[in-house]
Amino acid sequence: MPRKTLLMGNWKMNHTIKETIEFLDGVKENKLVDLAKKKNVILSIAPSYLSLQAAVLHSNGVNISSQDTHYAKSGAYTSNVSCSMLKEIGVSWSLVGHSEKREYDFESSFSCNLKIRELLENKFHVVYCVGETLKQFNNQLTKDVIKEQITTGLMNVDEKDMSNVIIAYEPVWSIGTGNNASKEIAEDVCGYIRQLLSQLYNSKVAEETLILYGGSVKANNIHDYLSQTDVDGALVGGASLKVDSFKELLENI
Ligand code: PGA
Repeated sequence: MPRKTLLMGNWKMNHTIKETIEFLDGVKENKLVDLAKKKNVILSIAPSYLSLQAAVLHSNGVNISSQDTHYAKSGAYTSNVSCSMLKEIGVSWSLVGHSEKREYDFESSFSCNLKIRELLENKFHVVYCVGETLKQFNNQLTKDVIKEQITTGLMNVDEKDMSNVIIAYEPVWSIGTGNNASKEIAEDVCGYIRQLLSQLYNSKVAEETLILYGGSVKANNIHDYLSQTDVDGALVGGASLKVDSFKELLENI
């Protein structure tokens, strides 16, 4: 069966509750969910924690994802949010390991692994982000870095839960820089990730797992990425914030 396509917006620390609702109303007005269905594309956005509940209530058919979660069920973890809190408001998707979390909040592949397992135990879909820094890229360490992030991040994750795992390859040097990776690089690394999944699990898991590219994806380059064999979708920051550009991204898939 061909893999589905996922267009996912990572809103980071952008959009208030009011702006989130305006965006989702715009999605409805522009009938983007109908267009997505025709194209066999899943539409998803990851707003801030504060906007999640409003987003779920106004989702209009768009999948709503958290940007992070905590690995513990509850307890003394000031400022954090648990899976059960997310579940309570109807959220069942989460990003994990975005490079900004790795850089600014010292997230490691090990802490990502704890989060991924907690999310999977709670039947969430997980979008696990991996990617190398510019220095690592320049030192030709991309695949070593990816291997560590994938093997540690997915440690003790059962094969049966892999149907709820999506991987997003986002070279750190391409995020928010306009310096997007070439389609050849994206395909090479996404293909490598599929190879790793085949080694860690089996060819079925490797063939069925959705793998996204992210990093300066825009309406004028999304088609190039998505026409690569091993790229099944895009994780988009800046270009996902306005209805018009989100629409253009979808139209160009
Ligand atoms: P960008 O962000 O599209 O603005 O480069 C991508 C991301 O951080 O997921």
